[in-house]
Amino acid sequence: MVIQWYPGHMAKAKREVSEQLKKVDVVFELVDARIPYSSRNPMIDEVIQNKPRVVILNKKDMANLSEISKWEDYFRSKGYYPVAVDAKHGKGLKQVEQAAIEATKEKFERDKAKGLKLRAIRAMIVGIPNVGKSTLINKLANKAIAKTGNTPGVTKQQQWIKVGKSLQLLDTPGILWPKFEDQTVGKKLSLTGAIKDSIVHLDDVAIYGLDFFKEHDVEALQKNFNVDVDADAENMEWFDAIGRRRGALQRGNEVDYEAVIELIINDIRNGKLGTHSFDIYKEMADEVK
Ligand code: G4P
Repeated sequence: MVIQWYPGHMAKAKREVSEQLKKVDVVFELVDARIPYSSRNPMIDEVIQNKPRVVILNKKDMANLSEISKWEDYFRSKGYYPVAVDAKHGKGLKQVEQAAIEATKEKFERDKAKGLKLRAIRAMIVGIPNVGKSTLINKLANKAIAKTGNTPGVTKQQQWIKVGKSLQLLDTPGILWPKFEDQTVGKKLSLTGAIKDSIVHLDDVAIYGLDFFKEHDVEALQKNFNVDVDADAENMEWFDAIGRRRGALQRGNEVDYEAVIELIINDIRNGKLGTHSFDIYKEMADEVK
């Protein structure tokens, strides 16, 4: 789904999510485990404020486990409750309920001390498009419920879904806009499929991906494309070798660079090069503080 985010839409989305948040005890901030920082909404702290927060790092099946654990530590240091899940294959879902219980423990203890009747924990999912909000809701509900609407923010006629023994989840997620400002973030969002339209030029995305793998895992690149090119070779040499190997050629036997760009991006997006994280904690530690 492609959403065009204009200032009016952003303001509306923020307003709607803020309104829905009043109904819940805990927020599930959903991010892509490959880019747990870059896939956050830029105003998320302002939106969520001091509501208890579980940060769900989804698509853990596609990410690097050691990076996931560093980012979990980071989120923990902020006072949030991180969990890594693979919503598509239904992995890690039990931990979501557990994290919600921990995140709301104090509140419910206070309620109990006041003599209030205990009830199920209420939660909602918030995140940028394509991080897996609908997939997660459907898995938690154990049936197909969530339809990603075309309007930013949240859609009408919401219902509570019972999850496990102690949780109730709003069946429609809050959809917020991704980070647009930073070019590097844009390339990471594109490489992971969070943004499929052309906010960033696809040739820049492919080159970013190529450079990333040349630096971090050149063997995955060599193996996936079945090419024998060195890590320090120029990108042009890589493009030529990949194009020839995959038969991405045009008239005159010339390499079709646009086709090569697509090949590189699609293979990275689809995890053909293995499990990788593009937000590397130690490279971003200063920036994320
Ligand atoms: P959204 O509501 O946040 O916009 O995201 P949505 O659930 O539509 O998921 C976006 C894409 O991410 C979907 O793929 C979905 O299958 C995939 N996805 C969600 N969770 C996971 C996960 O934990 N692991 C993996 N590997 N993928 C996940 P798609 O290509 O758009 O659709 P489809 O091919 O699954 O039909």
